[in-house]
Amino acid sequence: MSAAIETLWTRKHLLGLEDLSADEINTILKTAASLKEVSLRPIKKVPALRGKTIVNLFFEPSTRTRTSFELAAKRLSADTINIASSSSSLTKGETIIDTVNNLEALKVDAFVVRHASAGVPNLIAQHARASVINAGDGAHEHPTQALLDLFTIQEHRKKIAGLKVSIIGDISHSRVARSNIWGLTKLGAEVTVCAPPTLLPVEIERMGVQVTHDANEAVENADVLMLLRIQHERQETQLIPGIREYRLRYGIDAQRLEKAKPDLLIMHPGPVNRGVELDSFAADGKSSVILDQVTNGVAVRMAVLYLVIGAPEGTPLEGAVV
Ligand code: CP
Repeated sequence: MSAAIETLWTRKHLLGLEDLSADEINTILKTAASLKEVSLRPIKKVPALRGKTIVNLFFEPSTRTRTSFELAAKRLSADTINIASSSSSLTKGETIIDTVNNLEALKVDAFVVRHASAGVPNLIAQHARASVINAGDGAHEHPTQALLDLFTIQEHRKKIAGLKVSIIGDISHSRVARSNIWGLTKLGAEVTVCAPPTLLPVEIERMGVQVTHDANEAVENADVLMLLRIQHERQETQLIPGIREYRLRYGIDAQRLEKAKPDLLIMHPGPVNRGVELDSFAADGKSSVILDQVTNGVAVRMAVLYLVIGAPEGTPLEGAVV
C-alpha cells in the first residue's frame, strides 16, 4: 500500500466530472493507485465494502464498464446484482423510478446506471436513498471512463498538467469526450478536439479546448491521442459523406503516425472500430495503452465505489484494505 490517503470526499453520488474539483479528482486517482495492487494479489479481494449491495442497472449495451464495475465491487467484497432493461419489468411498462423504488425496498446501497438518455442517473439520484454512479448517460458524461483515462495517462507520464491531448472522432455524440474535457482541463492539460464540423458541438471552445479539423495537426502536436468511434446509434441523420472518406481524413494509420512524437500515447475507450478511426497497426502498436485503460478501469471503479459508499469522511484507506 502507498502512503495514507485521508479521504477528501463528501459526495453521495458520482454523476459527472463537470461538478468535481481538481482535488476531488485527485482523491479518486490516489485512492485508485492504492487499490490497484489488490488485483495483483493471488486472492483479489479486500473487505472494504463487505455487507454492501450494489445494483448494476444497464439500460444500454456494455462490455467493459459493466464487467469492470462488477469486478470492482466483488474485489471490495460487496454483493452485486446485474439488471439489464431487456430482462426487467421495464419491458412490461414499469417506470424507471418504480423500478428503483422496488430495488431500494430490497435495501441496496448503490446503483450503477447506464442509459441512452442524458440525465437519467441524475433523475434517479433525486429519488434514491442509495448512491448513484453514472456509468454513461447519452452524450452527457461517462465519468469513470475519463477517470480511468486520467489514471492511465498519469501512470505512463507521471503528470497530466501541461500535456497536449488531442481527441479525434465523433465529439458531438461522445460522453467520453465531454467527461475527458472536464477532467483533463481541470488537471491542467491542453486539450484539442479534432473532427469534421458536423461531428463537433457548436461553441465547444467554451469548454476550454482548441479546435482543428486537420488530423495531421492534431497528431503532430499531441502527447496523448484519444480516438473515438463514430456513434451511428446516436446520429439521426448522416453527418459524414461515408466511412471511407472519414477514414482517409481522420483515421489513424502508420502514415499519419510518422510525424507523431516518439513517446505518444494512443488511447481509445472502446469499442474500437478497426480500420475506421484506428488501424490495427496503431491499436496494437507500441504506443497503444488501450488495454491498460481497461485494466485500470477496475482500480478506478473500486476507488469510486469505496469513496461513494464505503469511506466515512476523513478515514484513512489503509483501515479498509488489509
Ligand atoms: N468504454 C465503454 O464504455 O465501453 P463499454 O460500452 O463496453 O462499457
